[in-house]
Amino acid sequence: MTDYNLLNSQLAALVEDIPHPISNLANAAALLWHNLPDLNWAGFYLREGELLVLGPFQGKTACIEIPLGRGVCGTAAQQNQSQLVPDVHAFRGHIACDSASNSELVVPLRKNGEVVGVLDLDSPSLNRFTEEDRIGLEAFAEILQKAI
Ligand code: SME
Repeated sequence: MTDYNLLNSQLAALVEDIPHPISNLANAAALLWHNLPDLNWAGFYLREGELLVLGPFQGKTACIEIPLGRGVCGTAAQQNQSQLVPDVHAFRGHIACDSASNSELVVPLRKNGEVVGVLDLDSPSLNRFTEEDRIGLEAFAEILQKAI
C-alpha cells in the first residue's frame, strides 16, 4: 500500500517555487517510479490540440502521439475522467506500448477544468490499481497541475 499523504507532501515540497513545468513533471515521474511498487511505466502525456504527446516518464520508450479518444490515455483525456483498468487486454482500443503491461491507471491533469495532459501508470500485474490509488493519484495531480 502506498502512503499517499506522504507521497503527496513530498511532491508538494519538490515542486514548490519551481517555475519549470517540464522539470516538475520529470521529478514527479521519478517520484512515482521510485515509490509505487509493481510498475513498468510511470509518466505523462501532454495535450497539444487533438493529440496527447509523450512527456517526461520512467520506463521503456513509449508511443509519442495518442489522438484524443484513443486508448486508455486518450479516453481519460476526452472524457476528462480517470480510467482505472484492471485488465488492459479487455479495454477496447488499448494501445500496447509495452507488451508487459496488464493493468493501467490514467488520471487527467487540468488547468481551469480543461484537460492539459494525463498521468499514466502501467503495471505488469492484473488488477494492480485500486480506488485508493485513484483517489491518491487524483490528489497528486491536483498538486502537480499547479506546478505546470
Ligand atoms: N497504454 C496506453 C498508451 C500509453 S503507454 O501505456 C505508455 C493507452 O492505451 O493509452
